Amino acid sequence: MKLSRRDALKLGGLAAVGTAGLALPLGRSVQAGTPSLLSTGNFPPRYTNVLTIPEAMQPVRQDVVDGKVVKKYYDVTAKTVPAAKILPKLSTIMLGYNGSVPGPRIDVDQGQAVQLVVRNALGATTGTFGTPSPISTHLHGSASLPQYDGYAGDLTLNGQKKYYQYPNFQPARTLWYHDHAQHYTAQNAYSGLAAQYHLHDAVERAALPQGEFDVPLTVSDAMFQANGALMYDDRTHSGLWGDVILVNGVAWPVLKVKRAVYRFRLLNASISRSYRPTLSNGAQVHMVATDGGMMPKVQKVSQWRHGSAERYEFLVDFRSYAPGTRIELKNLSNPNNRDYDHTGKIMAFDVVGDPVSDAVKNWRIPTEFRCVVDPATGQKRLTDDPSAPLVNDEVMGLVPTKDMEVRTLRVQKSDVTNLWSINGETWDDVVRSDYRKVVADPDLGDTEIWEIQNNSGGWFHPVHIHLIDFKILSRNGRPPFPYEMGPKDVVYVGENETVRVIMKFGPHRGKYMVHCHNLPHEDHDMMHQFSVGLDDDHPDGNDPITGERPTDDDHS
Ligand code: C2O
Ligand code: CU
Repeated sequence: MKLSRRDALKLGGLAAVGTAGLALPLGRSVQAGTPSLLSTGNFPPRYTNVLTIPEAMQPVRQDVVDGKVVKKYYDVTAKTVPAAKILPKLSTIMLGYNGSVPGPRIDVDQGQAVQLVVRNALGATTGTFGTPSPISTHLHGSASLPQYDGYAGDLTLNGQKKYYQYPNFQPARTLWYHDHAQHYTAQNAYSGLAAQYHLHDAVERAALPQGEFDVPLTVSDAMFQANGALMYDDRTHSGLWGDVILVNGVAWPVLKVKRAVYRFRLLNASISRSYRPTLSNGAQVHMVATDGGMMPKVQKVSQWRHGSAERYEFLVDFRSYAPGTRIELKNLSNPNNRDYDHTGKIMAFDVVGDPVSDAVKNWRIPTEFRCVVDPATGQKRLTDDPSAPLVNDEVMGLVPTKDMEVRTLRVQKSDVTNLWSINGETWDDVVRSDYRKVVADPDLGDTEIWEIQNNSGGWFHPVHIHLIDFKILSRNGRPPFPYEMGPKDVVYVGENETVRVIMKFGPHRGKYMVHCHNLPHEDHDMMHQFSVGLDDDHPDGNDPITGERPTDDDHS
């Protein structure tokens, strides 16, 4: 490996930080060369392009009862995007919901149900890699019924559509919908079939910045052919590590920020790469929410480990910076990523002097969130009362008991088959069992502890459990990192780590997936399923394979 002087300085600087006693391992090593075959002039510039913040999608219609919107109807078509503008002079074929990359965001309030129609107009094979075009759409973070959960075998073929029903009764959170087709999730999500979905509630509206100060950031990485086409190389299913970092589909963008407190919803939509974000001026961010919503106590951190599919919401206080100040969001990376010259950069914030209201100027950054049920609305509302329960205590209040079921999930790789597995079993094993095989079968309402073991020093696995939110109990017997002390649905299981999580199974019965969110791992074939509340008295009424099927799409 040949390092430039700057890289050597960077690494030297990191090593110095390391000896100061960081809790996180240091593993950044810059690879020689880059996977993209772009000429220098076609390689995107850093911190030049403006960040685009997609508008929320408009529903095609809504149901209103007593003046309140109770259901919203959305309609998206998965199709080829013939000429995405990512590179300076070249265009790139991608896939997109309604032709946009990333896809259109959906914004809803708690209690508003959503029907999302997803139409497959991708053609016989995908326009990006010529891979099979069946899709399945998963709303990641939603407690959806199994037939609406994007089950990998519940495929919508080209020319078909499927109606998904989302309840949105959960507390506020950042969700995202993305493709989940078995064995091709990686190519499809990488090609652009991914979008944020924001669920708001009264507590979150009162507690956290809204509107222009509530900014979705979807980070991903990519590699390109010389002609600008997307390139796919997952290194025999180990992972895809691109050399171009995109935020909301824009390479290394810049965002102008006012002197205010901003809330960023950072979703790692990279199919393999993990990040360790940090601000270039060393300032701490205030971590306020994790995958499943608001954290009980705000955590101040200067860097965090951020695996695929994890969502971290954090506040940055730009109020004390002079206009003209540039602060970069950098990436310190983690062991077993492949890093290139510019993958240590994510985006930049340029502080501008535009006026802000007194309310914004004087806003007090919270340190914890408590809530009570408002008798008038029946909904929770924020309170300053220090004796009120902390937010999301349904999950964060779960505690282990002696007689609780403890299950072990080993995430591992077979050197014989080159397949990734969970407890030695693959999704193909599940398919071959006619989708009957399960790795766990809790009863409805059971609380369990799952111990996820990664006995390898060579890989990390962001493990996602569908349906439920969990609380991380421990990692290698020690407390979780402060920034992950909120409701989660993905946990970073690092090298030689054993992580314990606790969760309560419900509110639905049925079969749900559990898998690694490094998508080449998931597709080959580190995915399994568990059943909730199924037994002789409760046959599966929500079977995603035999249940509600996609139908022909007449495009009307
Ligand atoms: Cu984000 Cu099973 O998925
Ligand atoms: Cu994995």
